[in-house]
Amino acid sequence: MYLKSLALSLALSQIVCAAEYWEAFKATADPTKLSIPKITQTTSIDPATQCQWYEPPSHFKFNAAEWPTAWEIATSNGMTKNAEFKKAYNAIDWKSAPNITVRKLAPNGSPDMSDYDASDPDCWWSASGCTVPKHEKINADIYSCPEPETWGLNFDDGPNCSHNAFYDYLAQQKLKASMFYIGSNVVNWPYGAIRGVVDGHHIAQHTWSHNLMTTLTNEEVFAELYFTQKAIKLVTGLTPLHWRPAFGDVDDRVRWIATQLKLTTILWDLDTDDWAAGDSLPIKTVEDTYENFIKMGTNGTFKNTGNVVLQHEIDNTTMTLALKYLPKIQKAYKHVVDIATCQNITYPYQEKSVKFASFANATGTKPESSSPAPSASQSSNSNVSAQSGEDSSAGIFAANAAVIGTVAAALAGLLL
Ligand SMILES: *[C@@H]1O[C@H](CO)[C@@H](O)[C@H](O)[C@H]1NC(C)=O
Ligand SMILES: *[C@@H]1O[C@H](CO)[C@@H](O)[C@H](O)[C@H]1NC(C)=O
Ligand SMILES: *[C@@H]1O[C@H](CO)[C@@H](O)[C@H](O)[C@H]1NC(C)=O
Ligand SMILES: *[C@@H]1O[C@H](CO)[C@@H](O)[C@H](O)[C@H]1NC(C)=O
Ligand SMILES: *[C@@H]1O[C@H](CO)[C@@H](O)[C@H](O)[C@H]1NC(C)=O
Ligand SMILES: *[C@@H]1O[C@H](CO)[C@@H](O)[C@H](O)[C@H]1NC(C)=O
Ligand SMILES: *[C@@H]1O[C@H](CO)[C@@H](O)[C@H](O)[C@H]1NC(C)=O
Repeated sequence: MYLKSLALSLALSQIVCAAEYWEAFKATADPTKLSIPKITQTTSIDPATQCQWYEPPSHFKFNAAEWPTAWEIATSNGMTKNAEFKKAYNAIDWKSAPNITVRKLAPNGSPDMSDYDASDPDCWWSASGCTVPKHEKINADIYSCPEPETWGLNFDDGPNCSHNAFYDYLAQQKLKASMFYIGSNVVNWPYGAIRGVVDGHHIAQHTWSHNLMTTLTNEEVFAELYFTQKAIKLVTGLTPLHWRPAFGDVDDRVRWIATQLKLTTILWDLDTDDWAAGDSLPIKTVEDTYENFIKMGTNGTFKNTGNVVLQHEIDNTTMTLALKYLPKIQKAYKHVVDIATCQNITYPYQEKSVKFASFANATGTKPESSSPAPSASQSSNSNVSAQSGEDSSAGIFAANAAVIGTVAAALAGLLL
């Protein structure tokens, strides 16, 4: 009897532990009281000045010995052997994980799909564009904004050290975006991440080192997500409920691990390819893509739905492109909003101290009947989105030589 109840309470405490992993992070930052000192790195709009090292904020004493090596797979320096990580890792019921093989890299640097079953049993987005999990108990992807004539504004790869002019424009225009932050950038540029929160953007995560997630082991996938959650929590006081896989490379194994961390995958349905501008693609090609997407805002393409357009914060080139086209985007579309807002996700973090407006309230479109605030489970469950609309996004690795060439170039180091 005693043993039985001990076993039961152990099992229960393990479940609580897995779900509440984020409460173990010793964060002192209050997301509603963050401030940014006026130093040249946070005020200048010259990229070189902004990208000079600065002393991190007092609430985030960065100690490299406590973190994975920046820009390397988050297990590379043995950080996953420490007690804190092991506890979080072991709190997961790994026996329930979908039994899906870890993918191999093809010689061109993209994931090897040569042996993959064409029926797509694992909902592998890179292979098929699949967004609705085929295994159980996995959060379905968000990849669209359902409201008509709505541009879902979102940027990958921040916080970039040179983002002041870009964030200034967004703030002036009262534009909010979903910002997919890379853990390595967050620990290197904490005021960059803090600015995202202070300006009211929807902060989500984009892994620690921007690797192809389906090619990583369970422990590597978990570490990539875990340390990025921890970085964002310690720096900003917030624990994201959303993430985006690098290159969109996700299958049900990776989604299941993200779900254990209470993360829902966000993909996209239109892609500017801005990250390649001036590298593997001429800037003009990316500008033409922007012009087409802008035209689609006025020619009836989005009469009944909206979009989620992939853009990047990466560097001065991508942010300059965004600044060039945002005024035209704002003219062409009725609404330009972050993805939490277009999905009515009013609580996009574990912490309930930060609340977002519903789409109707944020855009003033229609008076909302005073509906009760959504519960935590509603706000982290994206299934509602995955059922609407057709899937217009094909996986980026889908058998298309040009695309694969582009991806290989990205992996060769052009894209972080
Ligand atoms: C997982 O799948 C592999 C091959 O598909 C199989 O050999 C292995 O036994 C499976 N493992 C479990 C725990 O079911
Ligand atoms: C999402 O929907 C699918 C299919 O309708 C279901 O199998 C899955 O359990 C749902 N996931 C959640 C988190 O509700
Ligand atoms: C709207 O513009 C886009 C981009 O130029 C084009 O691909 C699409 O066919 C146009 N749609 C209509 C209905 O004219
Ligand atoms: C951030 O932007 C600067 C200049 O715009 C660029 O040199 C740098 O490589 C970017 N940093 C990262 C981590 O991408
Ligand atoms: C890009 O860099 C130039 C100077 O090198 C600067 O004038 C411009 O404001 C920068 N753009 C952004 C978006 O920061
Ligand atoms: C958001 O809320 C509005 C008003 O209640 C509703 O019409 C719309 O369908 C909701 N959108 C989503 C994605 O839930
Ligand atoms: C929207 O605004 C109404 C009226 O001010 C308010 O009662 C409601 O709680 C708001 N809803 C959300 C989700 O913010």
